[in-house]
Amino acid sequence: MQIARTLSEVQAACVTARGSAGSLALVPTMGALHPGHRALVHAAVASGAATVASIFVNPLQFAASEDLSRYPRDEAGDLAALEASGCALVWMPDVETMYPAGGGTTIVPEGPAENWEGTARPGHFRGVATVCAKLFGQVRPDRAYFGEKDWQQLQVVTRMAADLHLPLEIVPVETIRETDGLAMSSRNRFLTTEERSRARLLYAVLTETARALAPGGAASGPLDAARQTLAAAGFGVDYFALVDGPTLTELGSRIPGARLIAAARLGTVRLLDNIAA
Ligand code: PAF
Repeated sequence: MQIARTLSEVQAACVTARGSAGSLALVPTMGALHPGHRALVHAAVASGAATVASIFVNPLQFAASEDLSRYPRDEAGDLAALEASGCALVWMPDVETMYPAGGGTTIVPEGPAENWEGTARPGHFRGVATVCAKLFGQVRPDRAYFGEKDWQQLQVVTRMAADLHLPLEIVPVETIRETDGLAMSSRNRFLTTEERSRARLLYAVLTETARALAPGGAASGPLDAARQTLAAAGFGVDYFALVDGPTLTELGSRIPGARLIAAARLGTVRLLDNIAA
């Protein structure tokens, strides 16, 4: 497995890797890799492409109130996990490479970026869309892999690639869960033991609510019940909503392609999850 730390290194390595494998797949990450990331790499490797993983903690996607320095970092563990997963190349740019002095262009996504995380974390999707566009331009992958865990991010990037006619396919990969249902996330490590045991409730309530939603029936009753159950268990519920999967538009009743999305705080950790409804 090769490691590139400069733009010229990654560009040369990508040309070589595409030449030998025939196609290139990109798995963008911010490091602190867990089995959810490994599933992305496995899907990319299984496609037959040479697989490039990027590790870059992107300052532009953290809101002013969020602590960038608290984001977990584990370079040695990440490199070992990527090598074991069959990754061909790791792209580890620094901030100056990604955001050179004098830069004046960012991408401000609308549509699916507008509500939910877009409201809770102002500027977040501008940061995500901008860094993804840069990574796509640097690596020029045929496909890029994103987890369904961050459903809204997946839709924002898919929309951006379509809107800008970017010559790559965005491939979604199913959420990987702990045995009790909690969606894997780099942030789970910040839950206390007691919070960790309560955290399973988020997925349990999502699945229970999906079952309770009758096709065509009003969603408000099951959604209110879900919010109350979580609040009673000590979650600070930012949102628990039924939306159209690709556009994230709020729905009053279930339709084909609907998604239940939720963000809820436990202690200092904000948990995100979603399922098909
Ligand atoms: O999901 C993430 O880890 C990040 O938002 C991403 C896609 C790597 C962009 O920085």
